Amino acid sequence: MHKVIELITELLGVESLLAATLSRPQDKRNPVTRVHIRPIELQGQLHYQFAYYEAEKVKHRNLTKAESREELVYLLSKDYRQALLCSPEADYQLLINPGGKAKILKRPPSKKDVNLSHNRSKNYIIPNNQPCPFLARLGVMNQQGQVLPSRMNKFKQINRFLEMVEDVIEFLPQERKIRVLDFGCGKSYLTFALYHYLYERKGLDVEIIGLDLKEDMVRHCNQVAQDLQWTPRLGFWVGDVRDYQRTEQVDMVVSLHACDTATDVALAKAVAWQSQVILSVPCCQHELFDKIENPLMRPLTKHGILKERLASLVTDALRASALEIAGYNVQVLEFIATEHTPKNLLIRAVRSQNRGSSQQLKEEYRNFRDAWSLKDPFIETLFGDLLR
Ligand SMILES: C[S@@+](CC[C@H](N)C(=O)[O-])C[C@H]1O[C@@H](n2cnc3c(N)ncnc32)[C@H](O)[C@@H]1O
Repeated sequence: MHKVIELITELLGVESLLAATLSRPQDKRNPVTRVHIRPIELQGQLHYQFAYYEAEKVKHRNLTKAESREELVYLLSKDYRQALLCSPEADYQLLINPGGKAKILKRPPSKKDVNLSHNRSKNYIIPNNQPCPFLARLGVMNQQGQVLPSRMNKFKQINRFLEMVEDVIEFLPQERKIRVLDFGCGKSYLTFALYHYLYERKGLDVEIIGLDLKEDMVRHCNQVAQDLQWTPRLGFWVGDVRDYQRTEQVDMVVSLHACDTATDVALAKAVAWQSQVILSVPCCQHELFDKIENPLMRPLTKHGILKERLASLVTDALRASALEIAGYNVQVLEFIATEHTPKNLLIRAVRSQNRGSSQQLKEEYRNFRDAWSLKDPFIETLFGDLLR
């Protein structure tokens, strides 16, 4: 095992670990069947993101270099019998027997051209300094592929969004057309990014529709889609989320910064369609501000700014609970660092295969709702009997 520890220490020490996958749990009852590790940049520092895959869930932890070493050593000595570590020089396959003896097979590198220490931005799903026609058309980068300094936050947001999509792509149908709806798509940077990623990069058959109230925005987006020759797979429609009807299955519902209760409507529609994946970044929740009340929480509710944040959190907690009751595995993640936008929570929900009885979840939901003296929150009027 000491050779494995040496290898991990070396790869992390010189920042040349490009990716790793751990598999074959020692204990067959271990629900985490594999762990993916990849380098990411957080606040200018190299970190590693550990993604722990259970049947239909993925949990993430972002660790520093030192923490990553500790975690990797721990996982390989205790939990997993196989691993693939990729560096620019070589791929290392590790085979560990039940007694803890390890064999290391060195192979030619499968990921050659990423040099973390010199250009970490290459770890973005869409790299900086490489021409990407749709980002040039949207004015995020120039024709040579350089991101414009004033669009750097948007560029990071797009990449972060795609990372969120990357983690759930396996839950989307692979054998037929994937139908995606983006509610409140606005200027649609993320809708275009989604098309680029799913269709151009992953080669999946997709139909993506963006819906928005604003006619001029929709006209503009359709023009861009045409310029890129992305129609008719990608199209934009004028309409209100509330009125949108569709009888066909929608596999993925996206609602990013859709205003106020439009988010709730989007979630309810996704549940009604039994969508496999929901990605939602709520925005400007006003509904509960005047409704939440709990005498014990006076120190929180008597200050406007605290109450506003509290109301947003309570709203999102109700939404996440409602989705769990509806049979989804739900994660609430940081979408993008708060220095870029204060609206930084993303609710990611993946429809579960084993939708058992949700009495306990319903009770949890009701207790929480009642603790804030909430009568008929909007989400409840939409989800109806499901929550009662
Ligand atoms: C803050 S923008 C977000 C745009 C885009 N999703 C993003 O994250 O960059 C919100 C968009 O939602 C649209 N919107 C708000 N309420 C809506 C509704 N009820 N139906 C359709 N679109 C709506 C607005 O017109 C606006 O373009």
